[in-house]
Amino acid sequence: MKIIGLNSGEINSSAVLLNEGNIISGAPEERFTRSKKTKVFPKNAMKFILDSNQLQLTDIDYVSQAWNPGASWQKYNPMISSNRTKREDYFYSIPDHLFNFVERSPKDWVKMEFGGKIPPVYFIQHHRCHAANAFFLSTFEEAAFLTADWRGEYECLTRGIGKENELTILDSQEVPHSLGMFYATFTELLGYQSDNDEWKVMALSAFQVDCSKYTKLIRSTVNLLPRGRFELDQSYYKGALLDQPNLYTGKLLDLLGGKKGKGSAETDDWMIMIAKAMQEVAEEIAVHVLDDLYERTKTENVVLAGGFFMNSVFNGKIADRTKFKNVFISYAPDDVGNSLGAALYVNHCILNQPRQKVFRPSAIGPSFNTNSIKEALNRRNIKYRILDNPPQEVANLISQGYVIGLLQGRMEFGDRALGNRSILGDPRNVKMKDKVNGMIKYREGYRPFAPATISEESHNIFEVNSGFECHYMEKVVKIREKFRELLPAVTHYDGSGRIQTVREEDNPYFYQVIKEFQKITGLPVVLNTSFNINAEPVVLSPDDAISTFYNSGLEFLVLENILVSKN
Ligand SMILES: [Fe+2]
Repeated sequence: MKIIGLNSGEINSSAVLLNEGNIISGAPEERFTRSKKTKVFPKNAMKFILDSNQLQLTDIDYVSQAWNPGASWQKYNPMISSNRTKREDYFYSIPDHLFNFVERSPKDWVKMEFGGKIPPVYFIQHHRCHAANAFFLSTFEEAAFLTADWRGEYECLTRGIGKENELTILDSQEVPHSLGMFYATFTELLGYQSDNDEWKVMALSAFQVDCSKYTKLIRSTVNLLPRGRFELDQSYYKGALLDQPNLYTGKLLDLLGGKKGKGSAETDDWMIMIAKAMQEVAEEIAVHVLDDLYERTKTENVVLAGGFFMNSVFNGKIADRTKFKNVFISYAPDDVGNSLGAALYVNHCILNQPRQKVFRPSAIGPSFNTNSIKEALNRRNIKYRILDNPPQEVANLISQGYVIGLLQGRMEFGDRALGNRSILGDPRNVKMKDKVNGMIKYREGYRPFAPATISEESHNIFEVNSGFECHYMEKVVKIREKFRELLPAVTHYDGSGRIQTVREEDNPYFYQVIKEFQKITGLPVVLNTSFNINAEPVVLSPDDAISTFYNSGLEFLVLENILVSKN
């Protein structure tokens, strides 16, 4: 049974291929078009999953699209119908237009780009795709699920329970009372781009400041209700009014002192306090929702998805702050992963196929052999050297303070580079954060880089139990006190780090890099950040890697077993 999952028409379009429940291939479209978070139809990603598996569209049994325009038919929604942003939003108010929209559905895109007979297409509701991504990528027999983002068709949060191949929705919450919108409002108010720069605000929130005055003020705009529900006072927020210029009202500005932030250009103490206060309130809301979910499901396992759960700072606290002991978040909890969620939903919930409770690596994208790498280098007359032991040489260079761009194996699917399309550096070097930020990522100095370690050492370096795993860099945890000074480049202001644990069987190349680095320095940790320049998509091919290498301050480039130096 071959299923193609698509996220299309939303930001972060992507395509994946599922065969007999196995995730065979997948990629975000932005990596091909080089346009960050693109919402165009993912024709390049779809071509990749078909071509790399020698398949035609006629070999595919089903296509599953992660958005259901039909959901807009269900009831009149004045909030959306008078502020339409999507074609299907017209369904709420103008039935005359119905048949025009049907003509231009994703089905027609598939037909236009790939021709031939189109397999049956399912349109799966946005939050069901998030829930399927969360639960079916986990290995739990049973788990409570919570999805939260800005908005799907009309939902912005769903809760339920997953058992075997079934997802049972207990309840959902609709816009405008949205956690994602709440976070986005403050992202914009601080001068950043909403629905894009939320993680910059999250990074600001780690500064150690007293923000209690603002926490109280922001908290006063939120009403926590029984049964794990909440409301945002709409006199402060207008994110649901999508044709309005701002997400916040003048009343919210006045409440917080009549100021607006200036984003990265001029980060000041007020911005830091607002970011921290808002993060605290967002966490309080999420804990309120989760506490009630626990009471209703009484399971210790929880799986989470939706853009809100890109918030690795909160993710790392869930096991401590709620009764859920086992927390799973996939490598792509945001909308890019909804292609995967859509395909999994069809496979398990509609076609009743049994689950596979196995670890799923995120490296499901394209890979490149040595010949194609040499060809890309020769075309540009670039000199290179073949390495006998690439991980050892990479570790050597890192330990000497050099910053390396590494391309090896298959490209990762989600936003997080996990050692296959990564920039690596020495975490011991106090200047490394500024060096990588200033010369390579061209981004704000306060944003932290992630520490990657080997699984068996994680509890020695971080305040976690032995056996702790965080494969996808999805959680922030505390670094043990004595290692904070030893690892300044990956230790955030509050002593935390966005941990990644690497197992040899999952990524032998990257595992060996860390192991070799440990042999040289005694520390089994390297600095890992995605291989891209700020605001560009992560590199996909040797061509992208070479171009990023020469357009940045990177000192060495390693493509599989081939080393390129600027000297
Ligand atoms: Fe979403």
